[in-house]
Amino acid sequence: MSSESIGKPLDRVDGPLKVCGRARYTGDETLPRMAHAVLVQATVPAGRVARIDAGAAQRAPGVVLVLTHLNALRLPQGGRAAAKPPQGRVLSLLQDDRVHYNGQPVAVVVAETPQQAEGAAQLLRIEYERAGAALDFAAARAGAYSPGKIQENPADSRRGDPAAALAAAPRRQALAYATGHQHHNPMEPHATLAAWEGERLTVFDSTQYPAGARRTLAATFGLPVESVRVRCAFVGGAFGGKGAPWSHVALAAMAARQAARPVRLVLQRPQLFGPVGGRPRTEQRVLLGADEGGRLTAVEHHSVSNTSMLEDWTESCALVTRMLYACPNVTTTHRLVKLNLGTPTFQRAPGEATGSFALECALDELAVALNLDPIELRLRNHADRDPERNVPFSSKSLRECYRAGAERFGWARRSAQPGALRQGNWLVGLGMASSTRPAKRSPAAARVRLLPDGSAVVQSSTEDLGTGTYTVMAQIAADALGYAVSRVRFELGDTQLPEAPIAAGSMTVESVGSAVHAACLAARQRLVQLACDDAASPLAGAAPQRVRVEDGWLRLDGGDARQRDSAAALIARHGGQPLEVTLDSRPGPEEKQFSMHAFGAVFAEVWVDRELGLLRVPRLTGAYGVGRVMNAKTAHSQLMGGIVWGLSQALMEESVPDGRYGRIVNANLADYHVPVNADVGAIDIVVVPERDEQVNALRAKGLGEVSMTGVAAAIANAVYNATGKRIRELPVTLDKVMA
Ligand code: MOS
Repeated sequence: MSSESIGKPLDRVDGPLKVCGRARYTGDETLPRMAHAVLVQATVPAGRVARIDAGAAQRAPGVVLVLTHLNALRLPQGGRAAAKPPQGRVLSLLQDDRVHYNGQPVAVVVAETPQQAEGAAQLLRIEYERAGAALDFAAARAGAYSPGKIQENPADSRRGDPAAALAAAPRRQALAYATGHQHHNPMEPHATLAAWEGERLTVFDSTQYPAGARRTLAATFGLPVESVRVRCAFVGGAFGGKGAPWSHVALAAMAARQAARPVRLVLQRPQLFGPVGGRPRTEQRVLLGADEGGRLTAVEHHSVSNTSMLEDWTESCALVTRMLYACPNVTTTHRLVKLNLGTPTFQRAPGEATGSFALECALDELAVALNLDPIELRLRNHADRDPERNVPFSSKSLRECYRAGAERFGWARRSAQPGALRQGNWLVGLGMASSTRPAKRSPAAARVRLLPDGSAVVQSSTEDLGTGTYTVMAQIAADALGYAVSRVRFELGDTQLPEAPIAAGSMTVESVGSAVHAACLAARQRLVQLACDDAASPLAGAAPQRVRVEDGWLRLDGGDARQRDSAAALIARHGGQPLEVTLDSRPGPEEKQFSMHAFGAVFAEVWVDRELGLLRVPRLTGAYGVGRVMNAKTAHSQLMGGIVWGLSQALMEESVPDGRYGRIVNANLADYHVPVNADVGAIDIVVVPERDEQVNALRAKGLGEVSMTGVAAAIANAVYNATGKRIRELPVTLDKVMA
């Protein structure tokens, strides 16, 4: 098979559209007679809407509709028909007067312009009957409960006898870690444009999952799935926050229905802090038992995270602890506390980003106690097989990641003695951690059409979140077809295309890429057969297995140069109809036979000002084993982006709910800190060669999230190495360093 196009650092095919401002995001879409909606949110954390005076708002200039629970369309099952968490949220669709969190949608104002809608929304008078709200995580812990399951995983796990092993361990350590609330802040806020034609609904929506949004809308409004179409050509970042449709999507559709015209609703930045998910707070206890040589004999990891009053959603902190190290006695638990906050959801590297902070800091603390190098401690506990499932890994390059990463980073320069390295007023610390994320694949469908002009169109209803899907799918298709990448166009983001799974979990290449790969191989086979069976072809009568396809030309292997046919001519001779293959692809038995994960090692250099506690991270190095890379440039960009997310989690991001009112007090990008270029130092990425024959035919593991994991721990461990101070709660800020 030719693999000319796979792996190349090709520029994004959608790059020119984006830099010229010609890529149309949902908020850019317009329709004739379109009206504009704004979301009005509750200003109390719990209770009910007691009275609404909409008179002034309704009389304001340009107002088309003021939608509240008093006049909202009554939905089947109270709007809960689609509510099957986690993919189907419990939405707030104005079906009753109850308020479950500050920021919950309580009204939608529709007007001729966004400004008129916003102005009228200010005139809405809403009185609340306040009820007692749970806003204190520590107080809520008394009512902590088990969610039973976390997606397909049990909430609790146990192997061996951890309690006995811990009691007998020569070395013991029991420490508590915590991570703060966060909210996704993609550049592009959530946006929806909804339009009805009779009983048919078309929605432009900024989403990671057109097929999921379609099913949710269909169920919510009691429509057949075929009556709903969801479209989204570009997404300006999502990170899990646009995985399942939130209330505003259905509310936009409801407003369009009741206003009898298309309605566009674009969330404002502060509205991203509550009604559209976020990462919950976690409090985690990690207990380690080890022998004097640092071999783990017992591990316990107990995580508590918050969910909302509306539904259970669990941050799966301890899943990583089940598989990362070889230890015979391990127990993990997840518990939930209910708070009057918006429902949390998946946020980049959900579970591992938070859980690896606790686990990898705990290991660092053990390394210090045993006076062992942190890499040596990890090597002594390296898991050669998946210790929880007791199956082999499909591939694992973690040892090589430690080695290559340490070498590139200059780990040898580190002193185990905190504060040993200095640069003027700065204490310099070096820290490291392991990284890992599951390599997942979901069923996906793809269609390829070979056109008579010699080009190919490949389609699937997936999304490009800014990750490079448009580009990478064209590369995968071109490789399998034997076409030039420039002759392949990939189309996505429309439920009229073959169904793709959610673009999340770092699984788009594995899932959609596998479907594209298989469909294109099948199309090439048909093309070759066509030539061999065609008396008019120079390849007539040839054995198909001897025909190669390169750059759109079919040639006989070892044949003479004139013995060739072009795909374009071949299709033209056959009636000029596109040669089309549509195919469903799904994971096979390998999922049961192997444990599939990406692994890595991340290294941080941190500078801490001795007097002011200022924190700087001038250098981060990450080494990763992610199988075969589809595009060196977009892969590098993803791996680097994950590291920046980790840096942000380590030092900056935290949403702060007001303890009295439950409002997020820093719901804007001035006070909710994310790194700008000046905050990000040198990021060095090493992709170690890894050949995985099991994971899928492309031999590719997902790489969108693995590099976020471990970063916060590496930075916190480096802060300890610089200062001798352990900070066990994220983010690590200067007040904690100075305390
Ligand atoms: Mo993600 S948090 O897998 O979109």
